[in-house]
Amino acid sequence: MNKLALYCRIGFEKETAAEITEKAAEQGVFGFARVKENSGYVIFECYQPGEADRLAREIPFTQLIFARQMIVVSDLLQDLPLTDRITPIVQKYQEISPHLNLRQSTELRVETADTNEAKELSAFCRKFTVPLRQALKKQGWLNFKSIKSGITLHCLFVQSDACYAGYSYNRNHSPYFMGIPRLKFPPEAPSRSTLKLEEAILTFIPREEESKRLSEGMIGVDLGACPGGWSYQLVKRGLFVYAVDHGKMAASLHDTGRIEHCPEDGFKFQPPKRKKADWLVCDMVEQPSRIVALIGKWLVNEWCRETIFNLKLPMKKRYAEVRLCLQKLSEQLTQNGFGFQMQAKHLYHDREEITVHVRTRRH
Ligand SMILES: C[S@@+](CC[C@H](N)C(=O)[O-])C[C@H]1O[C@@H](n2cnc3c(N)ncnc32)[C@H](O)[C@@H]1O
Repeated sequence: MNKLALYCRIGFEKETAAEITEKAAEQGVFGFARVKENSGYVIFECYQPGEADRLAREIPFTQLIFARQMIVVSDLLQDLPLTDRITPIVQKYQEISPHLNLRQSTELRVETADTNEAKELSAFCRKFTVPLRQALKKQGWLNFKSIKSGITLHCLFVQSDACYAGYSYNRNHSPYFMGIPRLKFPPEAPSRSTLKLEEAILTFIPREEESKRLSEGMIGVDLGACPGGWSYQLVKRGLFVYAVDHGKMAASLHDTGRIEHCPEDGFKFQPPKRKKADWLVCDMVEQPSRIVALIGKWLVNEWCRETIFNLKLPMKKRYAEVRLCLQKLSEQLTQNGFGFQMQAKHLYHDREEITVHVRTRRH
C-alpha cells in the first residue's frame, strides 16, 4: 500500500493534488498525483515503500485545505467477482497485516467519491458493509475499542466491481463518513449558508471548548451579514451581533433583540468604541486579497481575537491564490508580534470558496 487516496469536492482535484504534492515534499516524500477531473478524489503514489503510511501519520490532516479525507490505499482491486467481492478484499488486508496491526482497527467505512454517478453506488455500499464487516471481524479485526489510537478501514468503491482497500489513522483523519459532516438545516435560519458557519465551528473549534469560546455576553461582528444565516449561528450561541450589510436582515433575527443591523460598507466598519468584538465573521463576496487585508487589519488592531471568514475562489489558480493570501496574513500577524492558530478548509458546504479560522494571542 504505497498510495494515498484523498477525497475532495468534484472540480477540486487539481488543488488537492497540488496541495498533497507540496505537503509530501515538505516531509521529504516524493511521488506522483493522479488526477481524473471531476472524479471527487486524487491518488497520490509515493515512490518509496512505506511512505504513504508515513504521510498518513505525519501530515496533520487539519492542515490540509482541500482534502476531505486522507487514507492509505492498495492498488485498485479490479474485476471483483460480483458473486464474491469479499474474498479479494480480505486477502488484500491479509497482505498488509504483517506491516500494520489490524487488531487496532475500530471501524469499517465502505465509501464512494462524492459525485452524482457514484451516488448510485451508495446503496450498494450500505448493503455491502454488513457482510464485509462480518468477514473482517472473523479475522480478529474491527474489535479495538480505543478510538483515538485506532485505525479505520476504508473501502473506496469507484465502480461496483472496483475498489481501493485502505485505512486511516483515527487521530489524523476526518471522523465523518466520506469526510462529510451531515448537518441538518435549521428551518428557522434565514439562509442555507448558515450551514457553512455551523460546519466551520464544528471543524475549527473543539467541541469541549465551544461553549467557552462562543458564549453568552460576547460580541460578534458579521461583515456581509444579509440575510443573516451566519448571524443566526452566533445569536444562537448567545452572542450580540453587529450585522454589517446594506441588504435586509431577516425579521426573525431582529426579534431576538441580539442584533444591531449596520447598513454600512464592511470595509469601513469599525467596532463601536470601547466595545471590541470577540468574534469577526465575514462572508462578503470580494477578492480574497482584499478580504485577508481586511481581516489582518482587524486582528492587528485587536478589534477581535478570533475570526472565521470565507475566501471566494472564482479564479483559475485557486491553490496558488489561497497560499499567497494565507502567507500574507501569517506574515502580517508575525511582523506585528502576534502568535496565532490558523486553519483553512474547503468545507462540504463551501462551493467555489474556502473557509478560514484564525485565533490570535499577543506574545
Ligand atoms: C454571500 S452573502 C452573505 C450571506 C450570509 N453570510 C448569510 O449567511 O445569510 C454576501 C453578502 O455580502 C454583502 N456585501 C458585499 N460587499 C459588501 C460590503 N462591501 N460591505 C457590506 N456588505 C457587503 C452583500 O450585500 C451580501 O448580502
